[in-house]
Amino acid sequence: MTSKRSAPIDMSAEEFRILGHRLIDQIAEFLIALPGKPVTPSEDPTHLKALVGTDNSLPKRGTDPGKLLERSAELIFGHSLFNGHPRFWGYITASPTPIGMLGDLLAAAANPNVGSWKLGPVATEIESQTIRWIAELIGYPTDCGGVLVSGGNMANFVGFLAARRAKADWNIRESGVSADGAKKLVVYTSAETHTWVQKAADLFGLGTASVRWISTDEQKRMDTNALQKQIDADLAAGMLPIMVIGTAGTVSTGAVDPLYDLARICRKYNLWFHVDGAYGGFAARVPGVPSDLAGLELADSVAVDPHKWLYAPLEVGCALVRNPVYMTDAFSYHPPYYHFDSSVTNFVDYGMQNSRGFRALKVWLALQQVGLDGYIQMIGEDIRLAELLYQCVGEQSELERFTQGLSITTFRFVPAELQSRTGQSETEQYLNKLNEEVMLALERTGEAFVSHAIINGAFVLRVCIVNFRTSEKDIRTFPALICRIGSTVDRELRQSSLNSR
Ligand SMILES: Cc1ncc(COP(=O)(O)O)c(C=O)c1O
Repeated sequence: MTSKRSAPIDMSAEEFRILGHRLIDQIAEFLIALPGKPVTPSEDPTHLKALVGTDNSLPKRGTDPGKLLERSAELIFGHSLFNGHPRFWGYITASPTPIGMLGDLLAAAANPNVGSWKLGPVATEIESQTIRWIAELIGYPTDCGGVLVSGGNMANFVGFLAARRAKADWNIRESGVSADGAKKLVVYTSAETHTWVQKAADLFGLGTASVRWISTDEQKRMDTNALQKQIDADLAAGMLPIMVIGTAGTVSTGAVDPLYDLARICRKYNLWFHVDGAYGGFAARVPGVPSDLAGLELADSVAVDPHKWLYAPLEVGCALVRNPVYMTDAFSYHPPYYHFDSSVTNFVDYGMQNSRGFRALKVWLALQQVGLDGYIQMIGEDIRLAELLYQCVGEQSELERFTQGLSITTFRFVPAELQSRTGQSETEQYLNKLNEEVMLALERTGEAFVSHAIINGAFVLRVCIVNFRTSEKDIRTFPALICRIGSTVDRELRQSSLNSR
């Protein structure tokens, strides 16, 4: 009788070593080649479907793992959009840390289930320490509760659910939002807040109509007078305001809400104060940032996103709650089939997941590789480069600057002959179309990648630098590239409009 089962998915240590070394070599070569590759190959879905063979049925028999890894490396390194490229500046997605890539491999090797201490003892302690260090990095009390989740949406959901449980004056977990005699719960946030708020209001039973979208000032910061008026009106109408959501770095322009004022208003009305710091939270202690950012220290809960400005490989978000009891109050159940030691941390009690992976490791490693000073330096440099871009854009007569906040700079291409006519509806319509086409044409060149924002009705190019690989040269050469593309696209658009007459 043999003591070793032969399972087709298993691999000998020797084979694992050979394949693993080969893969690590390929990744290292990829990292060397990355700056010279197109940011995205801009291939169409039909081509990619054919390459992947999406219509093939599940293979009945197995394939040699070496061949599979070769093919996967070819597919992925040859046909991906690379957010690790020095000139990837779209949305808010970071270049991934090399140590994080290795950390994910190591985490998968041990594969702890970090739902409970018992199933992931050292992983639980590492996650707890990572959470404390994240709190320290952003200036939040380090005795807070916290949990790592898949991203910013989920981290914000944790704060939302903790607030819902804490501020509903009935047992909402048992009786739900529509309990007998329950008042209608309402939440407040600025019109610039990320769409997670809609999802949360929808998914957690309040309904999207319960979100009060408060207007913003010229800098896109929540108008606190409008906020108070709305709270007063809702109270007078018999509703139950539960929380105010401030944003520390809005997704479109990097605006920071007046967090200290919001904290004061929350105290006055006894509301939960949640801060969405998914983007900007990690900049809170960087010299020169808006002073309001530090106001997140007063929040009842904060969401930050290590896969944004800690440059962790996807996925990892982090929810922090000032008083940990509000987390267990919102999430904990003790079914008979789990007998976990209550004197240690069991993350299953702190969030929505049951089984949980070891996403802390990649963050924990990076935090130690560079320390607090390293992160302050890198984030500060991203912001400096975004400011430099704003300055360089200002030196090009055919570019119009819009906003600069944290590491986000927005602007648009305006051909010389249209500059005296901006603001007129026909010109604005044309400029919106032109700039959208410029963005897409840039993408097709593979030279750089940006996304867009809509600012007061204008379609603008939006550069967001959460990228430790971006250099000053990348930034200084970018405005001229946009002008070149802009002129070509403008010519083509005019020509095609003449042809269609
Ligand atoms: C301010 C803000 N909140 C939340 C999110 C959602 O984060 P994630 O995509 O990690 O879920 C984003 C994403 O860009 C964001 O900018």
